[in-house]
Amino acid sequence: MKALVFHGEGQKSWQNVPDPGIEDAGDAVIRVEAVTICGTDLHIMKGDVPEVNPGTVLGHEAVGEVVETGGDVRSVRPGDRVLVSCISACGRCRFCRENRFGQCLGGGGWILGHLIDGTQAEYVRVPFADLSVHPLPNAVSSEDAVLLADIFPTAYEVGVLSGRVGPGDTVVVVGAGPVGLATIATARLYTPGRVIAVDFAQSRLEAARAVGADVTVGADEDPELLVDDLTNGLGADVVVEAVGVPETFEQCTRMVRPVGRVANVGVHGKPAALHLESLWSKDVTITTGLVDTYSTPLLLEMMAAGRLPAAPALVTHRFTLPQMEEAYDIFAGAAGTGALKVVLGASSHDAVSVPAQAP
Ligand SMILES: NC(=O)c1ccc[n+]([C@@H]2O[C@H](COP(=O)([O-])OP(=O)(O)OC[C@H]3O[C@@H](n4cnc5c(N)ncnc54)[C@H](O)[C@@H]3O)[C@@H](O)[C@H]2O)c1
Ligand SMILES: [Zn+2]
Ligand SMILES: [Zn+2]
Repeated sequence: MKALVFHGEGQKSWQNVPDPGIEDAGDAVIRVEAVTICGTDLHIMKGDVPEVNPGTVLGHEAVGEVVETGGDVRSVRPGDRVLVSCISACGRCRFCRENRFGQCLGGGGWILGHLIDGTQAEYVRVPFADLSVHPLPNAVSSEDAVLLADIFPTAYEVGVLSGRVGPGDTVVVVGAGPVGLATIATARLYTPGRVIAVDFAQSRLEAARAVGADVTVGADEDPELLVDDLTNGLGADVVVEAVGVPETFEQCTRMVRPVGRVANVGVHGKPAALHLESLWSKDVTITTGLVDTYSTPLLLEMMAAGRLPAAPALVTHRFTLPQMEEAYDIFAGAAGTGALKVVLGASSHDAVSVPAQAP
């Protein structure tokens, strides 16, 4: 088969690799129908995630059809159309028993496109299939569903819930990429007083307004002064970091009010300063987190019910799978290309071969 293989910092290629097969009785092999690229893949390409070995197939978000299952798999069978979660879960370890699948000690967690071969391929082997894929209702298109593999659960769990967004809050979202946009949309579910989005890319600030930001500000237009003005010098109740560079993390800790919350979502490859000389007395809470994806079934229901912005709002570019390298360039160059989420492969397979659900 063909797949997108990481060859070390700055290097990747769409090339032939061996077909994946069942290696463990809990595995499923999925034929990829729709796949996307995450800001985290860009961090991997920058060298920010050094544990990714050269030779690894990247990608941790997909929708596809089950083609083969190991003998222990009970919840899906060949022919089922499923969402592949960015997080795999053994279901048995102490963290899985607490719904903290991201911290799985039994061989799961974020493994796809990180520690084992991922989804940016024609086929992918998914370990612990019973807890790591979700059967999809026919009502949810592949393009909509692929948004639930990572960006929505990440934004909701690591941004909105960790940041404890509440009614009336002033919420600042720094970084209006797909994760920042999903944060804005899911923050709205809690009726914040005002959502402020910060980014360099005008196209992404426009998208932020479309998914519910009340105020947008260029990253080069002094967002700290704006937050200060809008909150009478107090600072924001909740600040979500959705970029993953030291400057934005440090900026978030300057924009939060006393007793406020900073929720870090960004993947960081470099140390950021924690300015305790100004923070020690402010009673702020700073959270970090790898997504667990325990909210995926809920978000899937909300997507099916039309309660979340779907592909028409968040997917700007569509490609075939062999156009993977071009898709990376378009996504990485978002400020110039206007890209939000890019989806590969969906159009050629969507709406066909959706098997009837067993009664
Ligand atoms: N914690 C998790 O489990 C988890 C899961 C998925 C993604 N992530 C991370 O979330 C972050 C966002 O992901 P994404 O897919 O939206 O990435 P992305 O690269 O598409 O978006 C990042 C955005 O930040 C903007 N930006 C850059 N510098 C900025 C600055 N100084 N101020 C304001 N904005 C700035 C960019 O213009 C871009 O729009 C990434 O760091 C990604 O790795 C974390
Ligand atoms: Zn991701
Ligand atoms: Zn586990």
